[in-house]
Amino acid sequence: MEEKIKGCIFDLDGVLTDTVPLHYKSWCLLGEEVGFSLTPDQNKKLKGKGRLDSLNLIIKESNLNFSEREKEEMMEKKNRWFLEEIEQFSTENLFPGALDFLVHLTEKQIPFALASGSKNAKIILEKLGLQKMFQCIFDGNDVSLGKPDPELFVKAADCLSLSDRAEIIVFEDSVAGIEAAHKGGFIAVGFGADPELKERAHLTIENWEGVDIEYLENRLFS
Ligand code: BG6
Ligand code: MG
Repeated sequence: MEEKIKGCIFDLDGVLTDTVPLHYKSWCLLGEEVGFSLTPDQNKKLKGKGRLDSLNLIIKESNLNFSEREKEEMMEKKNRWFLEEIEQFSTENLFPGALDFLVHLTEKQIPFALASGSKNAKIILEKLGLQKMFQCIFDGNDVSLGKPDPELFVKAADCLSLSDRAEIIVFEDSVAGIEAAHKGGFIAVGFGADPELKERAHLTIENWEGVDIEYLENRLFS
């Protein structure tokens, strides 16, 4: 039987591996140094957003002011702490079942790409042992517009040579990413337990255990 889903695009942070708390921790460390505090709710708004977009949002919400140069230094520092946090990352840090699903897609010959707003994506992928599995990889270094703009996903779909975006699933844990998937005309599948994802995505899954194409098609199309 031919599959209705012709391709998949994966976000990385919070979809294939649990880096979200590590970004949060690193921003909080920066906050202690420069004078802001970040609530879990504020942190949620940073999900999917690029480094500079995140910092600008934090600064705005904290009513602080910094020069461009200071902001560069702050991002550099935050990233250094984040990289220390992921130094020991390995295949063990993949979400359970994620690798099985990627292997399943490979066996089914359904192409898949990575589309992450992070400039660290390739480092993380390599640590997770996944860099050779993806047909196409796009990250924060490849785009000028971050999520919720669909640029990353559109580039990934083009790279997979798939023209009908309504046949491609985007897996995303962030509201910004789900919005980008909708804007680009993709099937938006939320990953995680956030109720906002449930409201906005075509479908949400809470983990990768037991997920395969048949399961997704049944939930999406019947
Ligand atoms: C996204 C994360 O994948 O990457 C965001 O969801 C993060 O939280 C963004 O801010 C940019 O990350 P980096 O690794 O380039 O600082
Ligand atoms: Mg994410």
